[in-house]
Amino acid sequence: MLEILYSRSNRLRLWIENTIRFHSGANLPRSEPLGFKQKVYRTMTKVAIVYYSGYGHTEVQAKAVAEGAKGVEGTEVELLKLSEDGELNEAAWAALDAADAIVYGSPTYMGGPAWQFKKFADASSKPWFTQNWKDKIGGGFTTSATVNGDKFSTIQQFITLSQQHGQLWCGVGLMPANTKADGPEKLNWTGGYSGLLAIAPSDSSPEEYPTGGDLDTARAYGQRLAEVARR
Ligand SMILES: Cc1cc2nc3c(=O)[nH]c(=O)nc-3n(C[C@H](O)[C@H](O)[C@H](O)COP(=O)(O)O)c2cc1C
Repeated sequence: MLEILYSRSNRLRLWIENTIRFHSGANLPRSEPLGFKQKVYRTMTKVAIVYYSGYGHTEVQAKAVAEGAKGVEGTEVELLKLSEDGELNEAAWAALDAADAIVYGSPTYMGGPAWQFKKFADASSKPWFTQNWKDKIGGGFTTSATVNGDKFSTIQQFITLSQQHGQLWCGVGLMPANTKADGPEKLNWTGGYSGLLAIAPSDSSPEEYPTGGDLDTARAYGQRLAEVARR
């Protein structure tokens, strides 16, 4: 009987499911896909970008992701920078809990995220325990000095973290610029798919690098994350 009703009306389906949830006292995370209020009444999409940056280059990348996300109508963006001790304040943790998308960022140091990011990841075992971040969109970015530099190892750790939290990983979603005519000014010129990559030579200032195609790609990724989170 319920199946017949379900197939006839999506609104009715939502009403039935949420009435059952309400009366059963189920404490569901805010991003639960069947949540009636979220689906029907949500007006703003919240994208939280939590990142560490030792020398400022990854921060430039983080701001470009934020810029791209802000360009999507109805999107609020929180840039949450980890301190030199790898700490976040209570308001920042609350912003992560309230977000529809959580995006991770760190420079690649010795083939992985900086230790400050790992400290944050370990501290996130608290929301992990209650699966507070389940079904939030996940994404990640990293900057390093060399073209490769084992950046993928950093992205892989972000993916693993997101999956432990039950997030839905969102890759870059761009074709690579891979012809003879292509170069660093082009969108996704390094051909990153799983996460966002940028290069900042070791003797460059954050005002110089990341630059060009890397920043355009960061903006495009921010836009994609916001659009996917809004669905
Ligand atoms: C301790 C340390 C380790 C690094 N390890 C790598 C590495 O494994 N691969 C790489 O390409 N660059 C490496 N670099 C260079 C940084 O990734 C690069 O300078 C990056 O832009 C720094 O980002 P930030 O300014 O946000 O700290 C390392 C730098 C430091 C300080």
